[in-house]
Amino acid sequence: MTDSGQKEKMMTHLEELFGFDLEQARTFISFFQDEMKRGLAGNQSSLKMIPSYIGRPIGSEQGEYMALDLGGTNLRVLTVRLDGRGGASVTAARRFTVPQSLMHATGHELFDFLARCVSSFLDDHSSKNTRSRHLAFTFSFPVVQNAVNSGILLRWTKGFAVSGVEGKDVVAMLADALSRQCLKNFRVAALANDTVGTLMAKCYADPDCDMGVILGTGTNACYPEKAGRIANMSNVPENREIIVNLEWGDFNRIEQNIFDQALDRQSLNPGAQRLEKMVSGMYLGELLRLVLLNLIEKGVWLNPEQRCHFQRIHSLSSEHLSRAEAGEDILSSMGIPGTTKEDAALLARVSHIIAARAARIAAAAIAAVVTWMDENIEKRHSIAIDGSLFEKYPQFRTNMESMLVELYGGRSAHFDLCLTPDGSAVGAAVIAAVAAKTYTRDEEWVGDS
Ligand code: GLC
Repeated sequence: MTDSGQKEKMMTHLEELFGFDLEQARTFISFFQDEMKRGLAGNQSSLKMIPSYIGRPIGSEQGEYMALDLGGTNLRVLTVRLDGRGGASVTAARRFTVPQSLMHATGHELFDFLARCVSSFLDDHSSKNTRSRHLAFTFSFPVVQNAVNSGILLRWTKGFAVSGVEGKDVVAMLADALSRQCLKNFRVAALANDTVGTLMAKCYADPDCDMGVILGTGTNACYPEKAGRIANMSNVPENREIIVNLEWGDFNRIEQNIFDQALDRQSLNPGAQRLEKMVSGMYLGELLRLVLLNLIEKGVWLNPEQRCHFQRIHSLSSEHLSRAEAGEDILSSMGIPGTTKEDAALLARVSHIIAARAARIAAAAIAAVVTWMDENIEKRHSIAIDGSLFEKYPQFRTNMESMLVELYGGRSAHFDLCLTPDGSAVGAAVIAAVAAKTYTRDEEWVGDS
């Protein structure tokens, strides 16, 4: 077989391995809803379906709130003003980077760092923006909540392995750290996942919004559910709406190909976060690296000496895929000499194959949740989406939309995918405002109005 014949055969094989066709999408949706049902009923499921003890805002909430937003290595402290008419503005903000070393430190050290960031933010903005002592804490990891302002970390995701936090109440840990920094009059009013923040931020101005989705370093979603359909919520009126965090990154009824399996084996959490490892920004670069190494080994791309450029684990990121797909010559910018246009074209094609699958799986997961709420897609669903993949990756949205068109034809127009930048941070303030009249630890339900 000619060189180009062998290359083409290999690419067709990769397209099959990373394929996610209509039939697979339909099966995925049915398994996904099955897991949703089991999770809601409190049975063993790869979808945790965690109630957030908060409902959607009505748009008239107002005031100024302070928020602490830990999404991954990015930490933000900010104050947000809600005008009571659906308008939210960030009045002060500061971004910090969590040092790599803290991702493997002790809980005490990590939370002390968070409290120091709050303190240094206050030093900068003490005069005008700190009247509110109610802090909303967006903590974007799987946390089982038992009230709007308390929750136990199930396990770390996204490369964090901080000791002494799993199984502990992260709000209590933050409160202790704040008091160690002498910030004693702060009250952590609400704890929220970033998906919940994103939903709340969008919903504050758009009451049709009924899903929050993150497509960034990690991936996950939330939606509003009737309390009566959630196990162990008998103390809340059954028609009351509660936002449920799916933790869909851990969904596991999806087939892994040999590259997914290799990535999983070498990860910090083998066996966990199966869907996240196929979809989210933290893993797409690594999938690409594993495929490229395989192509070098098979002799269909570059040559064996150039293997060294792809040796280091996690040395490629989703940005590499997005730049390659957009036609940039990333091989030269990586300092690899003597590569051809053909090499770059193949790299772009592999990037497309991996990212298109991610987008199609994400769309199918959204479809599963929307059709759970509205089986025949009779009404418009505004879906708040935040995260770099959705915001910046060329074609990601288009690939999601074509999956929805394949699934539902004309009715796919009822899926309104809305970019909601900064959603998790602004949403945290909305959560604090809603929490002021909801259900907090040691208090009765006070949410009926
Ligand atoms: C991971 C976390 C989840 C978060 C998501 C997006 O999947 O477990 O809680 O929402 O990343 O940041």
